[in-house]
Amino acid sequence: MRTFGCRMNAADSDRLARALTARGFQESSFEDAGIYIVNTCSVRDKPEQKVYSELGRIAEYCKAQKKKDALVCVGGCVAAQAGEKLAERFPQVRLLFGGDGIARAPEAISRLAEDPRLRISLLEFSETYEEPFDPLCAPGLRDGFDVAPSVFVNIMQGCDNYCAYCIVPFTRGRRKSRKAAAILGECRSLAERGAREITLLGQNVNAYGLDDCGDGTSFAELLRALSAVPGLLRLRFVTSHPKDLSPEVTAQFGDNPALCPRLHLPLQSGSDRILKAMGRRYDTAAYLDLTERLRKARPDIALTTDVIVGFPGETDEDFEDSMRMLGRVGFASAFSFVYSDRPGTRAAGFPDKISRPLALERLARLQDYQEKAGERLLRSRIGTADVILLEGRSRMPELLPAPGACAAPSGGGGGEAWTGRTPHGFIVNVVPEKGSDAPFAEGGLRGAMLPVRIESAARRSLKGVQAGRPW
Ligand code: SAH
Ligand code: SF4
Ligand code: F3S
Repeated sequence: MRTFGCRMNAADSDRLARALTARGFQESSFEDAGIYIVNTCSVRDKPEQKVYSELGRIAEYCKAQKKKDALVCVGGCVAAQAGEKLAERFPQVRLLFGGDGIARAPEAISRLAEDPRLRISLLEFSETYEEPFDPLCAPGLRDGFDVAPSVFVNIMQGCDNYCAYCIVPFTRGRRKSRKAAAILGECRSLAERGAREITLLGQNVNAYGLDDCGDGTSFAELLRALSAVPGLLRLRFVTSHPKDLSPEVTAQFGDNPALCPRLHLPLQSGSDRILKAMGRRYDTAAYLDLTERLRKARPDIALTTDVIVGFPGETDEDFEDSMRMLGRVGFASAFSFVYSDRPGTRAAGFPDKISRPLALERLARLQDYQEKAGERLLRSRIGTADVILLEGRSRMPELLPAPGACAAPSGGGGGEAWTGRTPHGFIVNVVPEKGSDAPFAEGGLRGAMLPVRIESAARRSLKGVQAGRPW
């Protein structure tokens, strides 16, 4: 199984993998696989092209190895967008499923594996949030699944906003909220099996519950209910549309101790003219007002964002406005993208497209600025105390102290390097003291909360020393 795109795709793939495992399928290497599942993204041209090259690679490999019965399944947004054309181009593709079809994909895969002549398409949108079978939530079946300390839980499908540049409403369909009871059930089950941090997922989570598919629970109520789940220590959510962030949710950054002080709030542009053309339905004054209210509720909240450069008609002045907004808000980090024409979207038909070299030049300037701002913020954490959730062995052993004092991730020498995140979402690498894992079961420190003191900062992460017992 190979997954491209957003965390919703990653969460979908995880659930699909669990459902397939419960049906007796096993994950295997690329070489040994009899079934290839590609979960795809078409938000920009580049990820879409990656999908075609992956499908080409699978087709070539199967041809070379004479695996003519190999089954190829394509899910996600490219499947939704390209549909049957994909199956025409790659004949081994016998299953297509969109975001709403994923609930029925496990059964379809079982049938397709039995019958090599069968083809199935699960691309139609449904009216309701289809609850997939998840063995994690099924009594009697739920043991034997590895649950990470930090996990993602889907709370809605689709998006109704139709921002002018965006393909998501076309590939994922109308907004549909998942029933709160199902979300709570999944979160309880995950927490019982060791998850300590949950990130709620949706294209616009602030609009959770505002459609006919939910059960009347608002997003603010859902957050409150989840913060009472035993064992669940941290809650996060992505993505928020600024126009829908309610005062009740904003207030919880101040008074809900489980809610982490970090929020991803896509700005997209700092120019009111461009925001209007994008159809975002807020202006920079409203955005700044929102960030002020968030900081009133939680003064140290870390804000992150998405910015598009080179939107059709973006002048030098519009771009400078985006740069100024980055300066005024002070983001901890920003994902920035060059505008990419997506078929069928309104912006694809807009005049005054920006040349790629100019857009790339703007992107480089913006990224350079943000990188420095991010580094300054990380440096400002030096000397502070924090608690990190240990997620796994550190992949950056070079960050750690002099030889002898630390070891490569595989062990040997002194203690081992671990990595975790602070509530603000900063990555911290640390070498826990020897024997700190003694009170824990076989997973060791994975999932433990570790008090640390921040000693130094690298470009994208921090280095800490243990400052208390893990729990
Ligand atoms: N639902 C989220 C994220 C959607 S996709 C939201 O509303 O913010 C993630 C990011 O990709 C967007 O925030 C946007 O910055 C970027 N993006 C989406 N469509 C794009 C396009 N056509 N070209 C360039 N970037 C795009
Ligand atoms: Fe796309 Fe806008 Fe919906 Fe986000 S809110 S998924 S950018 S249409
Ligand atoms: Fe990509 Fe679809 Fe997610 S376009 S970003 S996989 S919603």
